[in-house]
Amino acid sequence: MRVKLAEIARACQTDPASAVSQLQAIHKQVLHHSVEEEARVIRVILQRLKPESAESVRIMQEHRWVVEFLERTLAGLQTEAPEKVREEVLKFVQDLRSHFEEEEKEVFPLALRASQAK
Ligand SMILES: [Fe+2]
Repeated sequence: MRVKLAEIARACQTDPASAVSQLQAIHKQVLHHSVEEEARVIRVILQRLKPESAESVRIMQEHRWVVEFLERTLAGLQTEAPEKVREEVLKFVQDLRSHFEEEEKEVFPLALRASQAK
């Protein structure tokens, strides 16, 4: 996924339309990631470490703008000027990277701890 995002960011510089198609190609994979995490990761956290869950719940709620971008914004970008496409796609890639970082820093360690809690 990270490699793919780097590729998309690069494509943005030279061919924003291709960056949009590449994002469309990973659309399903990204949605699957969201659903999977919400179902499994958050469930174990809420079951076992609920008092510590607020930050993780907030990070999971970021999936809303991820889905919103992929399901709405992206389709509209196909008819936009290349500069606008570049700007929007680069912002999305950057935000998604920060989201993954937050998950790695906060959500996954907590989920691991929750899964080991008695
Ligand atoms: Fe996520």
